[in-house]
Amino acid sequence: MEIKSLNFDGETLHIIDQRYLPFEFVDFQCKTEQDVWEAINSMKIRGAPAIGVAAAFGIYLGIKNFEGNYNNLLHKIENLKDYLDSARPTAVNLQWATQQVLGFAINAQLNDVDSLKKAIFNKAKEMEIDDSKRNYQIGINGSFLFKDNDTMMTICNTGNLATVRYGTAFSVIQRSFEKYKNISVVVLETRPYLQGSRLTALELKEAGIPFYLITDNMSGLIMAKGLVNAIVTGADRIAVNGDTANKVGTYMLAILAKYHNIPFYIAAPTSTIDPLIKSGKEIPIEERNPDEVTYCVGKRIAPEGVKAFNFSFDVTPNNLITAIITDKGLIYPPFENAIKKILH
Ligand code: MRU
Repeated sequence: MEIKSLNFDGETLHIIDQRYLPFEFVDFQCKTEQDVWEAINSMKIRGAPAIGVAAAFGIYLGIKNFEGNYNNLLHKIENLKDYLDSARPTAVNLQWATQQVLGFAINAQLNDVDSLKKAIFNKAKEMEIDDSKRNYQIGINGSFLFKDNDTMMTICNTGNLATVRYGTAFSVIQRSFEKYKNISVVVLETRPYLQGSRLTALELKEAGIPFYLITDNMSGLIMAKGLVNAIVTGADRIAVNGDTANKVGTYMLAILAKYHNIPFYIAAPTSTIDPLIKSGKEIPIEERNPDEVTYCVGKRIAPEGVKAFNFSFDVTPNNLITAIITDKGLIYPPFENAIKKILH
C-alpha cells in the first residue's frame, strides 16, 4: 500500500496525522487555513515539500468562501501567505510554495473573484503534481551515483510522507533499489520525533527495501566498521553557497562521513534552494518545545525540572557535502556558481 501524506478533495485537505504513525492511520481533516497552520506547526504533517504543498491548499481554503472585491482578495492572499509561513521557520519550501501562489495571483489578471479562486485551486493542484515529478527525477538523477551492493545511510524521513510522492533522499534510495541488485539502507531513528524509526522504517518496509534501524549515536561506529558506502539526506533550506539545513544530526553525519572518507549527498528539489540566503549562518533554526526531548512516546524520560535544548535542524557547511542531487541535475563544488546557474 502506497502511503500518501495529503489528499485534497476540493473541500477538505486530508492529512495522515504523522504523530500516530506507524501504529494508527488517523485522518486529520483541514477545513480552514487555521487547521492547516496547526497541522504544520504541530507536525501532523511535516517534511519540507509536504508542508509547502499543504500551505498552498491552505491558501485556497482561506479564500474559498471569500466575499469581497478582487483587490481585497489579493490582499487576503498576501495575509494568508504571511500567516501560513509563520507555522514553521526553517524549511524554505513553505515560503516558496506560498510565494508561488501569491505571485500567480498577482499576475493572473482575471476578471472576477470566482475566476481567481478557481485559478488558485488549479495552481495548488498543479504544485501537487509538480512536486511528485520533481521528486521522481531527483531519484533518477541520484541513482547514477550508486552501484550494486551499496548501502546508504539516511536520517529523518524524506519519503512519501515528507513530500507529495516519491520523496527526496528516499527517492534516490528507491530508484537505486529498482536499478541495482542488493541495495540496502541504514536508518537513524532520529530523536526526538523519531521520523526514522516511525516513518522511514514504515516506508522502507512497505517498499520492500532491506534496512537496519540504528540509534542516532551508532552512526560513527557503523561508518568505522565500513557498513555504509554513502550518506544521503534531504534538506530544508540550501543557501546560495551550498550550506544546507536539514534535520538535526545531519551535520554530525557529514563530519563523520568526511573523517571516514564516505561520500555525503544532499537530495532536494531546487525549490529548497533559497536565493536570498548567502550562507548557512542566515538560516533560521527552529527550536521546539523541550518537552519533546524530556518525553519519549508520551512517557517522561528525564527528572522533573530538567532543562533541555530542542533545536530541530542543523546546518551542514558546504565543504562537507560531496554533491547536491536536484531535480535539475547534480551540483558539485564549488557550489556557488553551480547553484546560481541551476536557478537561472
Ligand atoms: O522536522 P521535519 O520532520 O519536518 O524535518 C524534515 C527533514 O528534515 C527532511 O529531511 C527535509 O524536510 C527534507 S524531506 C523531503
